[in-house]
Amino acid sequence: MVSNNAKPLLRALAGGGTSPAPWWLMRQAGRYLPEYREVRARAKDFVALCLTPALTSELTLQPVRRYGMDAAILFSDILMLPYALGQRVSFRDGEGPVLEPIADNIGVSDLEKAGAIGRLEPVFDAVSRVSAALGPETALIGFAGAPWTVATYMVEGGTSRDFRRVKAWAYGNPESFSALVEILTETTIELLSAQISAGVEVVQLFDSWAGVLPEAAFAQWVIAPTKRVVAALKSRHPGCPIIGFPRGAGLLYERYAAETGVDAVGLDTTVPAGFACAQLRPLAIVQGNLDPVLLLTGGVALECAVHKMRRAFAGGPWVFNLGHGVLPETPTENVAMLARLLAEPAAVD
Ligand code: CP3
Repeated sequence: MVSNNAKPLLRALAGGGTSPAPWWLMRQAGRYLPEYREVRARAKDFVALCLTPALTSELTLQPVRRYGMDAAILFSDILMLPYALGQRVSFRDGEGPVLEPIADNIGVSDLEKAGAIGRLEPVFDAVSRVSAALGPETALIGFAGAPWTVATYMVEGGTSRDFRRVKAWAYGNPESFSALVEILTETTIELLSAQISAGVEVVQLFDSWAGVLPEAAFAQWVIAPTKRVVAALKSRHPGCPIIGFPRGAGLLYERYAAETGVDAVGLDTTVPAGFACAQLRPLAIVQGNLDPVLLLTGGVALECAVHKMRRAFAGGPWVFNLGHGVLPETPTENVAMLARLLAEPAAVD
């Protein structure tokens, strides 16, 4: 059913063609914006910032005010869930996130599942504030990390080069690893459900490290938990579209789109538009996938790439996005140029 919603993103996610295509950018709020850096400099630490609704609601709105994207994405982080489960999480300058790694089922039983979502009350408060402040054409996106990706951070203790700890656990002792994934699946359902109840209109599951698993493990740790999250949300909130972003899934994108039940699939930078239109579009709405380095580069390279993408994705529903998040060094004028390019009425989309 094609909706006649006033919000172009919701129209596209319901299968309607919109011209020009709606757009938003992963990591659209963040360090490339001087107004973010100003708020960040005054905050005690990143977790405290994420728990201050007056600030997170402001940070959510900053990029939309500047560039008029079709959606705001809640300012929070996928690692707020491990934090809520009682794991120590910190963000150090230039180092990325640092977690006290959990390594076995003793670590898992220490997680404080009861009350975890209650600890994130300020996140839901921010949702209500943003929802009240947004214009009638702008959608509000909530999000969570998918269980596999969140597990990688919890077990590796941060970003990893080869994921050997988390993989060794998943391969060597799948029963005990599944206890962790089970907790993450259940709490992710509660987290997203609470965001939807507070006012988000779309949710995205970030599976940023989906691409490091071979097929059998991908089916077990990416597809199966995602399918459960999607099914639970669909039964509680049937009207809320779900975008899955299995970054790096490569040839497994097709299985992901066919089996998880997501409404839309976020394409990483490497997915060819021809493959996306022919193989994935029959299964899900497609979103993506400009290389964030093209946005960083700007100029003619950016302009040509955007025109080419618009031609390639013409003829069906499409949500413009990057193939991964905005890089912190991206010049703000390049994002302004992208906004202008995407607003041009093109015969092509
Ligand atoms: O604008 C938005 O997209 C909303 C906010 C948002 C943040 N993180 C804020 C943030 C979102 C959607 C995320 C998702 C997220 N967080 C992912 C999935 C997307 C992806 O990039 O793959 C992941 C893997 C994380 C975990 C995380 N958080 C890392 C690895 C880092 C450090 C490196 C980095 O990318 O910045 C963070 C910190 C973080 N999350 C910052 C912001 C604005 C920077 C914090 C700072 O100011 O120091």
